[in-house]
Amino acid sequence: MPNRLDLPGGFRWGVSTAAYQIEGAVAEDGRGPSVWDVFAARPGAVRDGHTSAVACDHYHRYPEDVALMKGLGLDGYRFSIAWSRVQPSGAGPVNPAGLDFYDRLVDRLLGAGITPLPTLFHWDLPQAREDGGGWLNRDTAYRFAEYTTVVADRLGDRVPAWITLNEPFVHMVYGYALGIHAPGRALMLDALPTAHHQLLAHGLAASVLGERNLEVMIANNLTPVRAASSDQGDLAAAAAYDALHNRLFTDPLLLGCYPDLSAFGVGPDLGGSVRDGDLKLIAGTALDGLGVNYYNPTRIAAPTEPGLPFAEAPIEDVPRTAFGWPVVPEGLRELLVGLRDRYGTALPPVTITENGCSVADEVAADGTVDDRPRIDYLAGHLDALAAAIAEGVDVRGYFTWSLLDNFEWAEGFHQRFGLVHVDFETQRRTPKASYAWYRELIAAHRKRLTG
Ligand code: BGC
Ligand code: BGC
Repeated sequence: MPNRLDLPGGFRWGVSTAAYQIEGAVAEDGRGPSVWDVFAARPGAVRDGHTSAVACDHYHRYPEDVALMKGLGLDGYRFSIAWSRVQPSGAGPVNPAGLDFYDRLVDRLLGAGITPLPTLFHWDLPQAREDGGGWLNRDTAYRFAEYTTVVADRLGDRVPAWITLNEPFVHMVYGYALGIHAPGRALMLDALPTAHHQLLAHGLAASVLGERNLEVMIANNLTPVRAASSDQGDLAAAAAYDALHNRLFTDPLLLGCYPDLSAFGVGPDLGGSVRDGDLKLIAGTALDGLGVNYYNPTRIAAPTEPGLPFAEAPIEDVPRTAFGWPVVPEGLRELLVGLRDRYGTALPPVTITENGCSVADEVAADGTVDDRPRIDYLAGHLDALAAAIAEGVDVRGYFTWSLLDNFEWAEGFHQRFGLVHVDFETQRRTPKASYAWYRELIAAHRKRLTG
């Protein structure tokens, strides 16, 4: 069995973060409000009323955070750019101070030998865009392309590869279908146009990036879907769920068409939102890489009540993270081999753009943080990744989620995903045992390659 030290030469090691989860400074230097500022202020929206007004104060402490990354020996850093720092109202006038922040960050990273990998949208839509309908409005896609132009013109001389969107599936479902995330809309299947408009935004932004000879990626949340049994009903439910979670966000990019969503009573125009030429545009600029965010597999059974054509079934007898998510490293191999089998030569090289787990970490009296479950999680998933590569899947890098404990969306500061512990009272950063483990793994892998 191949293991993590067998990962190929040129394999890139990284960590991932997102603007709203770490930056804080929400009202500084001209930043406009995003949907998350407004949502988090709503009573009951975020656990214990936490907001990201300060978060990890990364906006001010980024030099310290880049030094922590340098200490890991990373090749790359995936972060996101807050649209409302760059364009406070999500359209029109540009805020130079907002762009300057990312300019400084990029230079600091390059100075530390780390390649910046920015994500243009990680869920923090400028509130003014939401007031205009948000991702339910096709216009948002065109505004996103303008924003992309502004940022690419400023940073494209130093940033070779870009991620357009983070997890359009999770944003659609949590933000617009269930209302658990910002903007807090609970539209159920009427949220489907937000899938198309996000993908259209990707297509428009991809052509802006492609025209500038910049590499284009997207980061999709993907999950291997397992039917609860081999009964027809369970198999059909699993296929329906797979179409919604995985295929809806990958088929149009790689195959130029939407999957069959008839189990949801939805036609190929996704509730009337798809216009002539859209699919051509979405697939028009080929992806240079597919970003895969993997956390866990999903087990699906036939529905027991009317409504959706599937029901989620528990995965039994596996460890769980502090968040309660099942820990199934093998699911990563299954997912990657499944992608290769499904898309064949249409599948571009893959980068794991997120993978990690929440642990109830505490700083011990001696100042250390012993996060053994995280080390086990990462080791298991990296071994599964090596197995997928040995089976012929082209995977180029691994960016763990996350560098720092941060604002975990509706959970507030309750779920700790970092390699580095953050005390949110004092902003003190304490590298956990997993930080040292990751650093040593990266060093050992490099050493093995150079002999
Ligand atoms: C994660 C998924 C997870 C879901 C449900 C998302 O934020 O990315 O992997 O299954 O939340 O909690
Ligand atoms: C998101 C991250 C989030 C992580 C853990 C992903 O769904 O992209 O922002 O913190 O999962 O929930």
